[in-house]
Amino acid sequence: MSANTLGAMSEAPLFEISGLHARTAEGGVEILRGIDLTVGSGEVHALMGPNGSGKSTLATVLLGSPEYEVTGGTIRLFGEDITDWPADVRGKAGVFLAFQYPQEIAGVSVINFMRQALSARKGIDLSVLELRLSIMEWMQRLEMDPSFADRYLNEGFSGGEKKRNEILQMAILEPEIAILDETDSGLDIDALKVVAKGVQEVRSERPRLGVLAITHYQRLLTELRPDRVHILVDGRIVESGGPELADRIEHEGYERVGL
Ligand SMILES: Nc1ncnc2c1ncn2[C@@H]1O[C@H](COP(=O)(O)OP(=O)(O)O)[C@@H](O)[C@H]1O
Ligand SMILES: [Mg+2]
Repeated sequence: MSANTLGAMSEAPLFEISGLHARTAEGGVEILRGIDLTVGSGEVHALMGPNGSGKSTLATVLLGSPEYEVTGGTIRLFGEDITDWPADVRGKAGVFLAFQYPQEIAGVSVINFMRQALSARKGIDLSVLELRLSIMEWMQRLEMDPSFADRYLNEGFSGGEKKRNEILQMAILEPEIAILDETDSGLDIDALKVVAKGVQEVRSERPRLGVLAITHYQRLLTELRPDRVHILVDGRIVESGGPELADRIEHEGYERVGL
């Protein structure tokens, strides 16, 4: 049974991380030290934290990368334990990680990459022409020039263009949960705006989409307006709250909030 079918039938939450512990695959020190976080259908959550707190590690673990070893706890999608699933199987079930494709892939155009991704996620094999037609509306909504589809993936893309490409993929692949790792784009205001606006566009079309935005910078949250904010320190969530928590961090810094 697919996770989709399960989602329609069960009362289990969309995405549930319970007591998650992880360390580097070489058996190094523990970096994630017991993370509990549940994203329900239609909810936007933000995970913030100072440098070195484990944000990128969590994103990488959720991706299913062999770089880290999960030493305890579970990751569930609609109640189904996906902790040991390989990355491609997670993607097929509807877990979308925006930072999955940040690298340049020589000689592959945006549209051809999208064809492969769509085939992997949904088993739909469209011709370039069919796909071009089906992404046209989304490209307009995301204010992308039609010629963008023929550019080589990430080659010479600005920060904003990279983010538009990721949001376009999120729109077309129709994931259940989108995990956006924004740790490195924080200084590029244009890129952050693209992400915030793009997420709102996609949610207006697919209101049950869950979003987990991982970011060092409060700035993204001003426009994304998350339902819940979690603060990660030293591999643990030390505080959770509403959007006002992000405002406090913005004004007082991580240290002054008593973390
Ligand atoms: N592959 C690794 N090998 C050794 N240490 C690592 C590795 N990945 C992360 N760490 C350490 O784990 C901590 C958390 O790192 P990271 O997840 O990148 O934090 P953040 O993204 O919040 O800045 C840091 O102290 C970092 O040095
Ligand atoms: Mg990081």
